[in-house]
Amino acid sequence: MRILFVAPECLPFSKTGGLADVVGALPRVLAARGHEATVFLPRYRRTQPGTVVLPRLVIPLGPQLHPVAIQQGPTLGGVRVLLVDYPLYFDRDGLYVDGGTDYPDNAERFTLLCRAALEFVKQEAVPDLIHCHDWQSALVPVLLKTLYADEPRLGRVPTVFTVHNLGYQGFFLPDVLDRIGLPGRLFSVDALEFYGRVNFLKGGLVFADFVTTVSKGYAEEIQTPEYGHGLDGVIRARRATVTGIVNGVDYTEWNPEADKFLAANYSVEKLDAKLVCKKDLLQQFKLPADDLTTPVIGMVSRFATQKGFDLIAEVAGTLMEDELKIVALGTGEPHYEELFRQLAQRFPQKMAVRVAYDNTLAHKIEGGSDIFLMPSRYEPCGLNQIYSLRYGTVPVVRATGGLDDTIEPFDPSTGQGTGFKFTPYSGTALLDCLRQALDLYHGHPRAWQRLMRNGMHKDFSWNHSAAEYEQLYERVVKSAQRK
Ligand code: ADP
Ligand code: GLC
Repeated sequence: MRILFVAPECLPFSKTGGLADVVGALPRVLAARGHEATVFLPRYRRTQPGTVVLPRLVIPLGPQLHPVAIQQGPTLGGVRVLLVDYPLYFDRDGLYVDGGTDYPDNAERFTLLCRAALEFVKQEAVPDLIHCHDWQSALVPVLLKTLYADEPRLGRVPTVFTVHNLGYQGFFLPDVLDRIGLPGRLFSVDALEFYGRVNFLKGGLVFADFVTTVSKGYAEEIQTPEYGHGLDGVIRARRATVTGIVNGVDYTEWNPEADKFLAANYSVEKLDAKLVCKKDLLQQFKLPADDLTTPVIGMVSRFATQKGFDLIAEVAGTLMEDELKIVALGTGEPHYEELFRQLAQRFPQKMAVRVAYDNTLAHKIEGGSDIFLMPSRYEPCGLNQIYSLRYGTVPVVRATGGLDDTIEPFDPSTGQGTGFKFTPYSGTALLDCLRQALDLYHGHPRAWQRLMRNGMHKDFSWNHSAAEYEQLYERVVKSAQRK
């Protein structure tokens, strides 16, 4: 099958979060399974330039014409990568945000991405299916069912739209439709209108042939008012064409046996060297590294409300009375950066933070920590807890979305399970849960080792999830042919 992925980020070309890991991995696995996969992305400032395959492609956005170039990046394990090169829109420091504020022309920037993808395939070769990711590519299905509906082949190409995060929807004032050249009739409750504004993500939910999200649990949750971000009704209306497929992880990148960022490599059979990683981690974070029996709790995260940091703020004072150390790595909303900086100042022997985006440190945290903490308010899938399993770093998570689906609670009586979970979104619940983990760590070292090994044996490689996508694509293509 010929599958075109349209996405705003993809490793190793660009990344702000787990979406980039997914778009960097899934198409490669599909290619290895015999499909022809192409990924279409923006070329941002920090994306390595490719070679020009089309020097001039004129994209209309309302009254404006935008001449873009299409480049081809290095092939990604059999996957062709196309980059839309338009410095006016994409040659900027950030991908979506500058200093905490969205770029004011994000609607134009990502409509251009969608239209450039469609114009390119119209000229070159029409795929069997287009798979879009998050609000930035949500206009592909909208465009296909409106402006492109009469295109002989392209107008009939089916789409799958994956929601990686319902919390980011792409809201704009109603006049945006004129600016991006979409018909005014789309400003209706059955289409893109959402409480007086235009909502790109809603467009994807309404117009795509099939909607997926990145875990079964989150697919259920987003149909409820609690987790639906106002779109639960829209999603419920499409219930028959909504499903969850859990993300895989790329074990060529995340494997303690071969991880080049770790101070030492280790495996489920030979766990000793994890202590070398722990010492190195403490040194990297300038924490006392003489006593390696103290448990280290690690965090790697975008600093966003989604991730549950208000709970950490609530319990930090109490938690720091326990025997433990905390290391945190992240960037994002300035008030969370400040929160972690203050905690590190208050407890310099126990807590350290690095406000940065740093892949090497992210690997060192996975390798050197004993516990990985993810108290998310909501979590569509989450990748770090799955990496943690492979690194023998025990996840302590809130039981929501993909965290709930991927982590099984440890039962000391049977020795089964891979981590610890709590459900109520409260500081007390988080504290109780962490203390259960810490009690097991201190009091029952053999059970703790068993727990570590249980996680290390789990297999979340992409093949299984890719097979699920494959079946879905076939179903969607068949049903489009019948129309
Ligand atoms: P989300 O996509 O919501 O941010 P995920 O758990 O799915 O959450 O994925 C986050 C990805 O981004 C992981 O690969 C993680 O290692 C990486 N990451 C997040 N913050 C940082 C950071 N500050 N430095 C390095 N990597 C980070
Ligand atoms: C999102 C979600 C995260 C998920 C990732 C990749 O950013 O917040 O839970 O793992 O996308 O699908």
